[in-house]
Amino acid sequence: MKAVVFESEENGATYNEDFKRPEAPDDFVEISMKASALNKRDDFILKGLYPGLRPNVVLGSDGCGIYEGRPVVFDPGINWGENPDYQSPDYHILGMPQHGTFCEKVSVPGTNIYTKPSHLDFTQAAALPLAGLTAYRALFTRAGLEAGQKVLISGGGGGVALFCIQFAIASGARVFSTTGSKDKQDRLLKMGLEGVVNYNEKSWDKDFSSEFGQVDVVIDSAGGDGFHRLINLLNPGGTLVTYGGTLGKSDNISPQVIFWKQLNIKGSTMGSPQDFIDMLQFVEQHQIVPVIERVFPLSDFDRAVARLRSKDHFGKIVLTIS
Ligand SMILES: NC(=O)c1ccc[n+]([C@@H]2O[C@H](COP(=O)([O-])OP(=O)(O)OC[C@H]3O[C@@H](n4cnc5c(N)ncnc54)[C@H](OP(=O)(O)O)[C@@H]3O)[C@@H](O)[C@H]2O)c1
Repeated sequence: MKAVVFESEENGATYNEDFKRPEAPDDFVEISMKASALNKRDDFILKGLYPGLRPNVVLGSDGCGIYEGRPVVFDPGINWGENPDYQSPDYHILGMPQHGTFCEKVSVPGTNIYTKPSHLDFTQAAALPLAGLTAYRALFTRAGLEAGQKVLISGGGGGVALFCIQFAIASGARVFSTTGSKDKQDRLLKMGLEGVVNYNEKSWDKDFSSEFGQVDVVIDSAGGDGFHRLINLLNPGGTLVTYGGTLGKSDNISPQVIFWKQLNIKGSTMGSPQDFIDMLQFVEQHQIVPVIERVFPLSDFDRAVARLRSKDHFGKIVLTIS
């Protein structure tokens, strides 16, 4: 079958027209893939920045397709475990170390499959699972965002961040963001955000607080130098949820700020099966349509990755498979 297969940190992944389909475990079922979507995770794997890399593994975590004649999406997380608060040690994600979704036939546990939201086409639905799940859990399960609260979502142009923004607006929150260019600032404001500042400006945090004040919730995936500034922007009793560390470690975090303002600093990663069910329901209820940056055929995987790395992208990059 056609597949994008990881080789090694040095050689990356290659598009293969004749990849021998791997045998799946007994409780897995086979889906004929229609479309898939890239995540930053795929880029980290290609750069060797992901634990437990194995050669000859089909990449890709997201997707949608046909199972028993009906259109489906599936939860990319396997073996979450019994505790809704955190994943089990056996938890893993399609696309490393398990074979993933950049191929014609993917095997997933039967319990991970759900009916595709009917208002989304295959391309849109393929963009939803991993990023939508991550956004939903960070915003609602972990931060407990409520209507009327002020939420700041950093790096608003990213795949997960845009779902956070769409979900937060739909929930009735007051939504703010940071981003890296004037073009993205304008696009975010058109989506209904109350304020957007450019994180490349030296004093973006001071500009933010003087114009918009403090916020109740922050959702971040960048970390790095901006992290302590985001903490400082929280109201007393506020909550920051981190789900990523794109820019690495953060210095200058002040314990005094955290304890004196009674802040909650929480981690979040993808989500439980219940989070996935709740996310799909929320998307259907509010008729959320994922923001798609661009669609490439599977054979153009290299161009799709180049687009993801360009930093100019706004939303999800999708691969069509059949
Ligand atoms: N823990 C999990 O379960 C989980 C799940 C999904 C993703 N993640 C992590 O979340 C991060 C984003 O993933 P993605 O798939 O959404 O990636 P993506 O679509 O490639 O987006 C990249 C993100 O980085 C932001 N960014 C870049 N430089 C920044 C800066 N200096 N300050 C603030 N933001 C900056 C971008 O903001 P602009 O576009 O606005 O510039 C954008 O939101 C990655 O680190 C990924 O590994 C974690």
